Amino acid sequence: MSVVVLGSINMDLTTYVPRLPAPGETLFGSNFITVPGGKGFNQAVAAGRLGTTTQFIGRVGEDAFGRGVIDLIADEPVDISGILVDPDSSTGLAVINVDAQAENSIIVISGANMAHDAREVTRCREALRTAKVLLLQLESPLDISLAAAQAAREAGALVILDPAPAKPLPAEAYQLCHILTPNELEAEVLVGFRPTNQAEAAQAASILRERGVETAVIKLGAQGVYYQSSQESGFVEPFPVKAIDTVAAGDAFNGGLAVALAEKRPLAEAIRWGAATGALATTKAGASSAMPTRAELMKLLAQN
Ligand code: RIB
Repeated sequence: MSVVVLGSINMDLTTYVPRLPAPGETLFGSNFITVPGGKGFNQAVAAGRLGTTTQFIGRVGEDAFGRGVIDLIADEPVDISGILVDPDSSTGLAVINVDAQAENSIIVISGANMAHDAREVTRCREALRTAKVLLLQLESPLDISLAAAQAAREAGALVILDPAPAKPLPAEAYQLCHILTPNELEAEVLVGFRPTNQAEAAQAASILRERGVETAVIKLGAQGVYYQSSQESGFVEPFPVKAIDTVAAGDAFNGGLAVALAEKRPLAEAIRWGAATGALATTKAGASSAMPTRAELMKLLAQN
């Protein structure tokens, strides 16, 4: 395996609405879809569809949503043998609204995702024997993710943590993860201010690097992506696409970044791959369903 992803898998229940509802308001939506999601699984599908051998480690419940999600993902180019069916938990769910500007709001019911324990670390350790990159997020227990990060370091793999959804991180997390990829809201929780431009992103990245991460990547959404390591820093302008649904764009970024780094591409090129993968994910509906193919990524990169 080249990329191993430990994290969440959800059934996403997504409605498309003209605008996000106000408290107490009833709105008519235009469409409803049920697709597999979860920040972890979305990152795995992004990496798999870009052509890299990818394994996902996670859990679903022994219920109708769990069976449904497993059925729906059977044809994805991702090894899902590391998904445990947990009889004591419900399958993770996400209730999502997407408005006419393609913006979204998400409520997650974690279920089995927050029941991860040492068994996930054991499955990761096995998968990491041949992996180059481990992808982590914050929708499953942090102590288990950090134990997997330690295992990845011992196996010589690169660890990329997407600190989403946002929460403050312990010192250990900065030391165990090579790359941290917050968006502007997540960066605010980590460093105490919201970066809104390149200069502020550079300031936020410096703070994260002082805490121990080798490379800080600040995703500024439609404004682009800033990155900084000890060797280099730079900014990638947003790719021009027609966005219809921004759900999982950040997850797509991390999948694209991981694949490029697993292929030993330079950091600046890997950030471009991430940004282009994220941009393409906004052009289709849903979460894992919106991840682009390698051909689509190559075309967008060649055009810009
Ligand atoms: O990042 C998007 C994802 O967040 C959705 O797929 C949803 O399941 C939540 O985990």
